Amino acid sequence: MADQPAPAQHAQWWRDAVIYQVYPRSFADSDGDGIGDLTGVRDRLPYLADLGVDALWFSPWYASPQADAGYDVADYRRIDPAFGTLEQAEELIAEAHALGLKIIVDVVPNHVSDRHAWFQEALAAGPGAEARELFWFRPGRGADGELPPNDWQSVFGGPAWTRTPSPDGTPGEWYLHLFAPEQPDLNWNNPKVREEHESVLRFWFDRGADGVRIDSATMPAKDPALPDFDPDAPPVPHPYIDRDDVHGIYRAWRALADGYERPRALIGEVWLADPVRFSHYLRPDEMHSAFNFDYLNCPWDAADLRRVIDATLAAHASVGAPASWVLSNHDVTRHVTRYGRADTSFGLSLRQHRTPTDLELGARRARAALLLDLALPGGCYLYQGEELGLWEVEDIPDELRQDPIFHRTGGTDIGRDGCRVPLPWSGDAPPFGFSPDGATAPPWLPQPEQWAGHTAQAQDGRPDSMLTFYRTALRLRRDEPGLRGEDFGWLPGSAPGVLAFSRGDGFSCVANLSGTAVPLPADAEVVLASSPDVDPAAGELPDDTTVWLRRH
Ligand code: NOJ
Ligand code: MG
Repeated sequence: MADQPAPAQHAQWWRDAVIYQVYPRSFADSDGDGIGDLTGVRDRLPYLADLGVDALWFSPWYASPQADAGYDVADYRRIDPAFGTLEQAEELIAEAHALGLKIIVDVVPNHVSDRHAWFQEALAAGPGAEARELFWFRPGRGADGELPPNDWQSVFGGPAWTRTPSPDGTPGEWYLHLFAPEQPDLNWNNPKVREEHESVLRFWFDRGADGVRIDSATMPAKDPALPDFDPDAPPVPHPYIDRDDVHGIYRAWRALADGYERPRALIGEVWLADPVRFSHYLRPDEMHSAFNFDYLNCPWDAADLRRVIDATLAAHASVGAPASWVLSNHDVTRHVTRYGRADTSFGLSLRQHRTPTDLELGARRARAALLLDLALPGGCYLYQGEELGLWEVEDIPDELRQDPIFHRTGGTDIGRDGCRVPLPWSGDAPPFGFSPDGATAPPWLPQPEQWAGHTAQAQDGRPDSMLTFYRTALRLRRDEPGLRGEDFGWLPGSAPGVLAFSRGDGFSCVANLSGTAVPLPADAEVVLASSPDVDPAAGELPDDTTVWLRRH
């Protein structure tokens, strides 16, 4: 075991890497326009290297009207001018590599922006044109085609169809958009769509990208009959989620990724409740890794977590893929907030906005959760700002909210802005060093005054800070021989509410969620504790605390 290379230092680095998600709009703004940019990231690459992560995943940085914060891509071969230039992206990749950080870029196969040249061409070309076959254009139903072609609803609320004017200005065909109207769905039955995406992959792999994160990966394949269906009792196969023919896309991408001397990694955004269907995306000739949303959704409860951990390890083992562990991303309520609530479970339709929240408790559990994640076999995904202990910002005024989910649901779903607030770097007041002095615009979403104590600068070097804790844990994980390889076993005899497992080389992890202190194993040395109130001499592990242990 000890002679295995440290995590992520080997050819199959994705199997145990810690991957940090950069949400470019909200990371750091170098030019003072209130929007994060690539120079802001480049300036802080040493911060990220020092944090101890292995790779950076960038949410989309391409040219985009930003109708869905960049997940509406107008041109994959250009960087959005608000973020910078292609040359800067190339420099960023080179600088990150020089610091030992891998780079993952985002690709969005299900849809493009309505400003994408293809869609503009399709609109101009009119019904029946070949350009329209790259999308899902259909005549409407009803006497004058005034009704959408079917009853599908957008994930963001409202109908999944929008009517377009014909080139002569009269009402014309409708097009499908499973997300916002600014995100027309592509028709993956068209070979041109396939060729273009493969060319986009090559474009970024040739520029040094080490992998791609694949957006909405279960959705690109559609039933071409576009049938009506009842969303509460959808047919099997579903008209657009997890259809068998979607896998052909990823097999082709895997062959392409494997064609590089240093194979590139495919990481899927696969939201699926069925672990067997989920594992299909991770077969040896498909993706390398996928986000573990069952774990993210799981309540802070030992029995539930144990069940999800077992199911995760079994599903991944069945296809020889590494497990992954995720607590937060740009689509979900930050976990400090989730874990500070009475109901700690999560679902995309269950945001529990403004539920009473104990942030101190949430932060305590977030620390315990980090040590649990980092000790499990597989890779971990971190979301920017969690290393600062940031919580969901729940009091953004409605008129400043930007998420299309908020607007398309008329505010019934509060949306995702609260986890996307620009990071606090330094200083006592907004913009907290996110933008430079003399900035011409405030941060694109307002930051809470209470973040003054949570800036990276305020936490730097403070032994009790979340930032110091992340740095310490990530460094120990990298150096710990017991965390190499995939050995894992539950330790027998642990109390109810306690998760205790061993890894290699006498290393073990114990997380106490039982609601009361439990005895610490007597024969082990505490390597790291999630809370400063663990006193090994007292022999007790307090509630909501995790420890890493090594047997004498
Ligand atoms: C999933 C992304 O994570 C989310 O932010 C985006 O809105 C949708 N896919 C649509 O691209
Ligand atoms: Mg900027």
